[in-house]
Amino acid sequence: MTLPTRTLGPTGIEVSLLGLGGMPMSISGRPAEAQSIAVIHRALELGVTLIDTADVYCLNDDDLGHNERVIAKALATYAGDRSRVLVATKGGLERPNGAWTVNGRPAHLRQACERSLRALHVERIALYQLHAVDDRVPIEDSVGELARLRSEGKIEHLGLSNVDANEIDRAIAIAPIVSVQNRFHVRDRRGAIDNGALAKCQALGLAFLPYSPVGGSRGKSRLGQDPTLLRIASKHGASPHEIALAWLLGLTPSLLPIPGASKVSSIESSVRAAAITLDDDDRHALQ
Ligand SMILES: NC(=O)c1ccc[n+]([C@@H]2O[C@H](COP(=O)([O-])OP(=O)(O)OC[C@H]3O[C@@H](n4cnc5c(N)ncnc54)[C@H](OP(=O)(O)O)[C@@H]3O)[C@@H](O)[C@H]2O)c1
Repeated sequence: MTLPTRTLGPTGIEVSLLGLGGMPMSISGRPAEAQSIAVIHRALELGVTLIDTADVYCLNDDDLGHNERVIAKALATYAGDRSRVLVATKGGLERPNGAWTVNGRPAHLRQACERSLRALHVERIALYQLHAVDDRVPIEDSVGELARLRSEGKIEHLGLSNVDANEIDRAIAIAPIVSVQNRFHVRDRRGAIDNGALAKCQALGLAFLPYSPVGGSRGKSRLGQDPTLLRIASKHGASPHEIALAWLLGLTPSLLPIPGASKVSSIESSVRAAAITLDDDDRHALQ
């Protein structure tokens, strides 16, 4: 099966309707590099053309860019066609001693973007997302610096992450934004529905990239035991995680879920979800 494509917001760029998230390949408990490269190669073979990463998908500040480097290596060693692959990265966090902290200061974003260019071995980043809003820095200042990096040719398209509807409005007043990446799965709708971000993206024609779409590293086992998901999964001959992804994919065509994977079997399962169509009864049960 070849994965269908969807347009990435207003860019006109066609990407696979389901992307690959690189975080589990690079944080604590990560697999050997060869396994991560095998996961990326398998995703590409299956038609995945959207890969999500961040400079902070690593162990700590001494390891920044780990996931970007793994992705660059996987792309460089892939024997098939990689001309349509879009790698999206992010800046705006730090990893002091392995913690996750926010830094949306313009100088930090510039340094992070330039480091990501080197890690990814590209002259321009296809989609650069502000990882989070820094309470100490007006979003206008953070996005303003990203807009400058874009006008310098270092970034092609700009995206946001972990934002609400009001922050999307404030950012878009400063620079053209094409996407929003927030936490969203069938059992956690706070970052998409409750905060108005998904409706805002739909109104503005922006892509919405649900992260942790199968529950995240902590929630994935909970989703795997959800009785409603299990019942619908058994009806479709699928897994509960595949049903969770099919639920997202059926909501609106502007959604591009980015399930993370550190095992080949995980991305194979996620790609299978793209072929599942939930009926009205299924969707009603999951409301
Ligand atoms: N913007 C942000 O603040 C933010 C935050 C978190 C994540 N993200 C991005 O979003 C991506 C996805 O989020 P996530 O990795 O936190 O959570 P997730 O996609 O919900 O999945 C986490 C784990 O679930 C397993 N999994 C994935 N697909 C599966 C399937 N079809 N069936 C069974 N298990 C499956 C994988 O296990 P294995 O590792 O064993 O393969 C994976 O490590 C990340 O990789 C990252 O790119 C962004």
